[in-house]
Amino acid sequence: MISIIRTRNIRRHSKLQLLATLLLALGSSEVSYAADMIKGGNLYAAHCAACHGASGVSVMPGAPSFARSERLLQPDMALLATIKSGKKIMPAFQGVLSDRDILDVIAYLRTLN
Ligand code: HEC
Repeated sequence: MISIIRTRNIRRHSKLQLLATLLLALGSSEVSYAADMIKGGNLYAAHCAACHGASGVSVMPGAPSFARSERLLQPDMALLATIKSGKKIMPAFQGVLSDRDILDVIAYLRTLN
């Protein structure tokens, strides 16, 4: 009889542990942010490909080719700032895309080479 109760207690305990682990996992996935490459690719096709090319090979004179990693040797935050403010012919994307959207696009740019 006692052993049955003990087994139940252990089962209940491990269920609680599982629940706690799940909650921790859910909580941490909200805190850390992984770039959404699919979304980044879709945004790139809609907003950037006209000049930088569908596969990152520039179709506009003066626009860098991301397929050759041109201008990508800089931190994400530097690229974010440039994309938000625009550069010469390139329009500013502040107010068009959110920072998170632009970071998704940047993650996608880094896959094009
Ligand atoms: C109207 C054409 C056009 C569009 C649309 C465009 N770009 Fe550009 N982009 C350019 C040109 C031209 C340059 C080169 C600017 C220069 O340095 O003279 C450039 C430069 C860049 C650079 C290099 C910045 C640097 O540090 O020199 C990045 C990164 C970039 N574009 C990303 C993007 C992204 C991401 C998008 C879409 C959200 C986008 N561009 C949309 C034309 C465009």
